[in-house]
Amino acid sequence: MPEARPRAVADLVLEVNGKRHRLRAVEARVTLLDALRERVGLTGTKKGCDRGECGACTVLVDGRRVKACLTLAVMQEGHSIATIEGLARDEELHPVQEAFVRRDAFQCGICTPGQIMSAVACIEEGHTGSEDEIREWMSGNLCRCSCYPNIVDAVADAAKAVRR
Ligand code: FES
Ligand code: FES
Repeated sequence: MPEARPRAVADLVLEVNGKRHRLRAVEARVTLLDALRERVGLTGTKKGCDRGECGACTVLVDGRRVKACLTLAVMQEGHSIATIEGLARDEELHPVQEAFVRRDAFQCGICTPGQIMSAVACIEEGHTGSEDEIREWMSGNLCRCSCYPNIVDAVADAAKAVRR
């Protein structure tokens, strides 16, 4: 019978939305998505497919879009992670959140945190020159409720608001 090998665990510090979270004994196989939801307690980042296809788990790492189900928590120590919970300032919504509400750019809402985080980066990257460009650069985020026209409108609105 093969000898049981101890599982690799590590203590981690994750910086999420500007706050440091010390996590004890995190197994090396734990994804950033599971660490955020189950260890940090931030459940705004959603688990859709858990295999990199839907974009529901999109967060920003050092300002870049990352599918949190496809990266390990241990790899993100020392990086700055932004999730949906960190966007609003007190009672004031981020312009992208505000645009999603105004444009009614969701139905069930499962994809919405990922769509919004992706949109924040899409605008920051400057990929909002046309509807087609927005569709292309938001194509990693799927919406099973097919709210795409409203999502594109919301991203276009937010891009204008951010540039103002
Ligand atoms: Fe990560 Fe679907 S849950 S891409
Ligand atoms: Fe339901 Fe997008 S709003 S999956």
